[in-house]
Amino acid sequence: MKQFGLVGHPLGHSFSKAYFTEKFEREGLDCEYLNFDIDDLSSIRNIITEHPDLKGLNVTVPYKEAIISHLDELDSVANEIKAVNTVKVLPDGRLKGFNTDIIGLEKTLSMAMAGSALILGTGGASKAVQYVLTKHYIPFHLVSRNPEKGDFTYKELTPEIVASHPLIINATPVGMALRVNKAPDLPYDAITTQHTLFDLIYNPEETLFLQHGRDKGARTLNGLTMLHAQAEAAWRIWSE
Ligand SMILES: NC(=O)c1ccc[n+]([C@@H]2O[C@H](COP(=O)([O-])OP(=O)(O)OC[C@H]3O[C@@H](n4cnc5c(N)ncnc54)[C@H](OP(=O)(O)O)[C@@H]3O)[C@@H](O)[C@H]2O)c1
Repeated sequence: MKQFGLVGHPLGHSFSKAYFTEKFEREGLDCEYLNFDIDDLSSIRNIITEHPDLKGLNVTVPYKEAIISHLDELDSVANEIKAVNTVKVLPDGRLKGFNTDIIGLEKTLSMAMAGSALILGTGGASKAVQYVLTKHYIPFHLVSRNPEKGDFTYKELTPEIVASHPLIINATPVGMALRVNKAPDLPYDAITTQHTLFDLIYNPEETLFLQHGRDKGARTLNGLTMLHAQAEAAWRIWSE
């Protein structure tokens, strides 16, 4: 039986196992999906050795960037972004990294490409968002807790800055399951009906960030379309 799996920590929030298990059942595929909840990425090689039928992995928080040093090869997009969410175990055992978040993001952002954007967070998912916006000539500014990593810190965000960025994308884990009563620290009063708020989080389906946007009449998009599109793109890579 072919095996696939997810590497991350913690994995309680993840939908991938349920998604692929249901897909394998529905499509009559003799495959199994396993969760590898590891607190140290150096065990990745042991996982591969101990699971000779493992053909591919999804990679999630917090390893999308750190996984790169454990791989043998990157496809050109993953190499450009420097973030990987899909690993293919090649027939000779070498590990090749891909980024299918791009495909998921393009599907969602095609519904919301307008004006300039604020991207909250500077991690692996943020890098994929930056790549897609750059590709579509959408200008953006980065918001980070760390003044050296972003264009603005959260404290520096004025209502004017928020008003002049009609697309706001949450690429942080703030508001995710177990932290559902939290939202990125923004002047939400500056959100209007002209805004689109996109949260990459899919669990819960409506985060507090999106609720604040909806309260102000903004258009809101969650991470579910992206989740499904990136998973199917990973499946195509593993099946090639
Ligand atoms: N829908 C999908 O298919 C999909 C795909 C990928 C990711 N995601 C979601 O996107 C989110 C980010 O994923 P990721 O892989 O980029 O995670 P990550 O690598 O851990 O990075 C998240 C970034 O968020 C910021 N951050 C972290 N903790 C924070 C806090 N307490 N307050 C404010 N900012 C914080 C940090 O940026 P600074 O240090 O610059 O502040 C960090 O670099 C997760 O919720 C993940 O589930 C969804």
